[in-house]
Amino acid sequence: MLNLIICGAPGSGKGTQSEKIVEKYHLKHLSTGELLRKEIAENTELGEKAEKYIAKGHLVPDDLIIDMISKEILCEEKRYKGIILDGFPRTLRQAKALDKMLQKKNEKISAFIELHVEEEELISRLLKRGKSSGRSDDNLDVIKNRLEVFQNQTLPIGNYYKKQDKYYKIHGVETIENVFKVITEIVENLENNNIQTA
Ligand code: AP5
Ligand code: MG
Repeated sequence: MLNLIICGAPGSGKGTQSEKIVEKYHLKHLSTGELLRKEIAENTELGEKAEKYIAKGHLVPDDLIIDMISKEILCEEKRYKGIILDGFPRTLRQAKALDKMLQKKNEKISAFIELHVEEEELISRLLKRGKSSGRSDDNLDVIKNRLEVFQNQTLPIGNYYKKQDKYYKIHGVETIENVFKVITEIVENLENNNIQTA
């Protein structure tokens, strides 16, 4: 199985690249942000709880996230060749919980790919998207909080994957196609070295 994590600041292109990865490698796309927005749209109890954190740009508590994603990961879906995790894990606790979930399936993470984009570009992309996205968190004040939360709470988890030799950093200020090309090179390298075999 090919189990990838795509990490990066808000607006770095995680969702955009995930869609392309899904198409090429037939993976299941798991975006915790998208799953939460669906819960909110459906007025579920989880959606109600998550909404206030998202609207402020804070992280939704680990327990809620781990519970939500484990249901997705642990369900048997043989038609996929693996998963692409977009926006999860965002804390060390989530990263460790993820390893446990995969262990139950006799699988592991193949690679952790971080998209690096400078702050000015991130803000410009998100403000532009905010004109039509309808997302409660695409406004300047909340964007600043999201960027700070990313720096303080999420960026450090790269070390967890560096220690396991699974960490790849990509410069994300290129065309969408060029960024994708670098990702495919990483995946092909994994395949050649049989690293993804779980
Ligand atoms: P989430 O939905 O994950 O949002 P995010 O991390 O803030 O990231 P975005 O979805 O805004 O950006 P993206 O990196 O996907 O970029 P995109 O491809 O859209 O999380 C939202 C909230 O949910 C969190 O703040 C938190 O509250 C909660 N949450 C989610 N997961 C959680 C977790 N695990 N734990 C706790 N809380 C959690 O691209 C952005 C824009 O740029 C688009 O318009 C796109 O067209 C454009 N673009 C993309 N690539 C390029 C390029 N190469 N060149 C130019 N433009 C580009
Ligand atoms: Mg996204």
